[in-house]
Parts: sequence; C-alpha cells; structure tokens
Amino acid sequence: MGPVPDLDERARACAQRLHAADAVLLASHIDADGLTSAAIATTALERAGIPVETVFKKQLDETEIASIAAREYDTVLFTDFGSGQLDVIAEHERAGDFEPVIADHHQPADVATEYHLNPLLEGIDGASELSGAGASYLLARALAETAAADGGTVAGGAGAVDNRDLAGLAVVGAVGDMQAVGGELVGANRAIVEEGAEAGVLAERTDLAFYGKQTRPLPKLLEYASEVRIPGISNDETGAISFLDGLDVDLRAGGDWRRWVDLSDDEQQTVASALVQHALKRGVPAKKVDQLVGTTYTLEAEPEGTELRDASEFSTLLNATARYERADVGLGVCLGDREGALERARHLLENHRRNLSEGLERVKSQGVERTDHVQYFDAGDEIRETIVGIVAGMALGVEGVDPDRPIIAFARKNDEETKVSARGTARLVGQGLDLSAVMREASRAVGGDGGGHDVAAGATVPAGREADFVDAADAIVADQLG
Ligand code: C5P
Ligand code: C5P
Ligand code: C5P
Ligand code: ZN
Repeated sequence: MGPVPDLDERARACAQRLHAADAVLLASHIDADGLTSAAIATTALERAGIPVETVFKKQLDETEIASIAAREYDTVLFTDFGSGQLDVIAEHERAGDFEPVIADHHQPADVATEYHLNPLLEGIDGASELSGAGASYLLARALAETAAADGGTVAGGAGAVDNRDLAGLAVVGAVGDMQAVGGELVGANRAIVEEGAEAGVLAERTDLAFYGKQTRPLPKLLEYASEVRIPGISNDETGAISFLDGLDVDLRAGGDWRRWVDLSDDEQQTVASALVQHALKRGVPAKKVDQLVGTTYTLEAEPEGTELRDASEFSTLLNATARYERADVGLGVCLGDREGALERARHLLENHRRNLSEGLERVKSQGVERTDHVQYFDAGDEIRETIVGIVAGMALGVEGVDPDRPIIAFARKNDEETKVSARGTARLVGQGLDLSAVMREASRAVGGDGGGHDVAAGATVPAGREADFVDAADAIVADQLG
C-alpha cells in the first residue's frame, strides 16, 4: 500500500475492526477536509457491505461526544477529528458506551487507544503531509484490501475495487486544509496523488497559480487573484480588461469572456507570458513573479469548467456548504449528486464568497491590535465563527497586518462563549511556533479548550476572557519563539 508501513499497519487494524462491526456511526468535521473524509469513509464502508450512518459536528467537545455515546451504535468512526479529544473518548470507551476508531491528523491528546490512525503517531506532519481525508483514504484502501483477503466482493464500478478512485477526494481534502507546501503536495499526500494518477482520476500539472481557472471569466480570474499582486491588474477591473484586450488572442466567445480552461495551450502560453512581462515591468520582484506559476491538481473524471474539476475550487465549494450547516449538501456533491446538491452548493458558494470578502474588508478597515508577539482582532458578530479562521488566514498579507506575526481572531459564538482562531506561517513554525499548544494552553488558562496544528489552530473560551487569553497566548508565543 502506501509509503509508510507503520501507518498502513494502523489502517489495517482499523479496517479489520470496522469489518467486525454490524453497523458504524461515522462522525466528521464540518469543513472541506471533514466532508471529503466522510465521503471517502462512507463510500469505502458501503462498498465493503458495512452499514453506515454519517453525522457532522462543528467541533468535538464533551457534549457532542456524549450525544454520540447516547446513540445505539457499538462502533464509532471519527474522521478529521477525534485525536485531540481522545481523553474524553477514552472515558466513554472504558464505560462501554462505544468502541472508537479514529482517522485524524490533529495533535493527539496524551492517551492511547487501539484503533487510531494519525500521521503524527508515525512522525509524519499532520499539517502538511497528510490530511484527515488522506488518513481516511489510507483506511479506505485497507478496507478494500481486508475485504479482498476475506474473499468478500466489493461493490462499485471499475477502479472502485481497490478504492484508488477515491484519491481525488483525498487531494481535495488536503488542498482544502492548505496542506500544499509552496503550492505542492508533499510526503504521504504526494503518494496519494501518484495513486490517483495511476488510477486515472487525478492529474498534476504546472499551470497558472490563480484560483478560479475552471469557472471564472478571464477578467475576474486576474482581478481577484490574491496569490501575487500585480499593479494595474489585481483589484482593478478596468486594468484587467484592458490588459486582456491588448493581447493578440481573441479572448471572447460570442460576446462573453472565455475562461482559462477554454483556452488552447498556445493561448494560455501567450496570456501567461504577457502576465509575467507585465508584472516584471510593474516592478513585481522576480521571486514573486515565479509564484505566478504553480502546481494544479485536477480531477480528471469531473466535467471541465466546473468547480469539481479543480481541487482548490472544489474545496471552497465544500467549505461553502458545511460551514453553513449544510454538510448534507457537500456530502451529496462528494458522493456524486450532480443535480440538486450541486445546484444548492453553488448557491451557497456565492454567499460564502461574499462573506469571505466582506470579512476581509472588515479586518482591513478595522485593523489589528498588536502585543509584543501576536496580533489580534475581534470580529464580534460580524464574521461567522465557522469562517473567522479562513478570514484570519487570508488577512495575513493584507495592508496593515504584519505578515510575519501570529494572528488571533475572536468571533462571538453565543452569550457564554467566544470562538478563537489562530494562524501562523511556515517561517514562524520553523522558528518554533506551535499554535496548537498556544491555543490549548492559553484557552485552558482561562477556562476554555482548544487545539489543532502548529500553523493553524482554534479554541473556545468563556465570553469576557478574551484579553486574558491574549496575554496568555502572547507569553506562550514569546516562549516558543524566544
Ligand atoms: O480543520 P482543520 O485541520 O481541519 O483545518 C485546518 C485549517 O488550517 C484550515 O482552515 C486551513 O486553511 C488552515 N491552514 C493554514 N495554513 C496552513 C495549513 C492549514 O491556514 N499552512
Ligand atoms: O474557503 P477556503 O478555506 O477553501 O479558501 C482557501 C483559500 O482559497 C483562501 O485562503 C483564499 O486565498 C482562496 N479563495 C479565493 N477566492 C475565494 C475563496 C477562496 O481566492 N472565493
Ligand atoms: O476553527 P479554525 O479554522 O480556526 O481551526 C483551525 C484548526 O484548529 C482546525 O484544524 C480545527 O480542527 C482545530 N481546532 C481544534 N479545537 C478547537 C478549534 C479548532 O482542534 N476548539
Ligand atoms: Zn482536516
């Protein structure tokens, strides 16, 4: 199977445990990675003939775990969360409420359990080398393998026999969790890309690094690109149009602008070269200009010109559903509903885009407060707690926000609780930053709880304790970076 035998060993043990279950309750996280994790695991369980019911949770806390324990299921599979809450889960296991199987990539709590698949347990980075969907994919591969070894048959079409056709969803999950390092998937993620390519469901190519190559009309593709700022084009509708009109290629079709995918290779080459020339002439540093081109992952079985074809666009489409209490819609899309679910997801996407852009504008105009080692803003009710982390990540890099200092964002959850999201950079992590520890320790110091990854983490704290939380976080970051 995969490149890491010890991880495969864990996957096999989990798969065997699942094969022994009469039915499985699957609980997963409400973001792109959690949705793809659930879709991969649900598909693999169904193909193996194991009945499964799927539920989604905003976060896994004591109350949510108790509600899972109250269900009649003996076996509960947690995907894209569970490791960080292992202490609570293990208590239920000891009480005989259910037996847990976990496929996750978050920092594990310091408790051991038998069926636990997590890259961090084998020295693999859970923020850049394997996502929740990747862990679920390894589990799916093992489920097919153990089914075959049992002499059982696996339902599904060609390519489905070994579950390698699920590699596309695994890549969407990894990209959705921003696991690409310098634009490229590495480590165990890379092995999944290779399996997907062999199975014919994935292609990796070097292409323009902008978001929206499948669906955005060319002027919007260039105008909205935030990856590399190009004076006279970025955030400049007129500029983007006049740049395109000045090229010796017909970029319109019947009055409408074409999209990047509609262009031939030669036409793409012409536009890309002109973009590079324009950027250099406008003084964009060569190092930045290099970033105009990057690695793109396409799902080859999906129709060209749709969000589903591009891993990055697909993941945003999924976030637009699950983070707005419509995980059912996103799961439907992942499971192949190309009618009702896709229509609804596109509708939700418009709303999500608007919220992200309004959220970012708000941070720009309101600005951030600085302490010695962190910066923070309080969005109150103005940004949904389920997307405030995405906005915080996008804010690192806008004017008025230090791109090289951890950012902490608060949003109101309810009268009693405040949601906290924190984001850092690879460079800071290289210097010792671990936001997972910062969020866990600082939140516990004020009566809350949290966790996550070194580069991105979150917490819930009692309302009113935000300032104390910032002080605690500042001290911990000082320690880590000092
Ligand atoms: O839910 P959790 O693992 O699944 O989500 C990871 C979060 O961390 C995402 O919101 C992603 O955007 C963020 N992240 C980041 N920078 C990275 C890696 C992840 O902001 N380098
Ligand atoms: O929503 P999601 O977490 O998938 O967004 C990941 C990244 O994709 C964002 O940080 C942003 O840079 C980019 N994005 C974008 N335009 C959108 C949505 C997302 O450029 N409408
Ligand atoms: O919610 P947010 O996008 O800020 O989450 C960033 C990361 O921290 C995600 O991987 C999420 O699962 C994790 N997290 C956590 N415990 C919390 C909140 C977030 O482990 N209470
Ligand atoms: Zn994840």
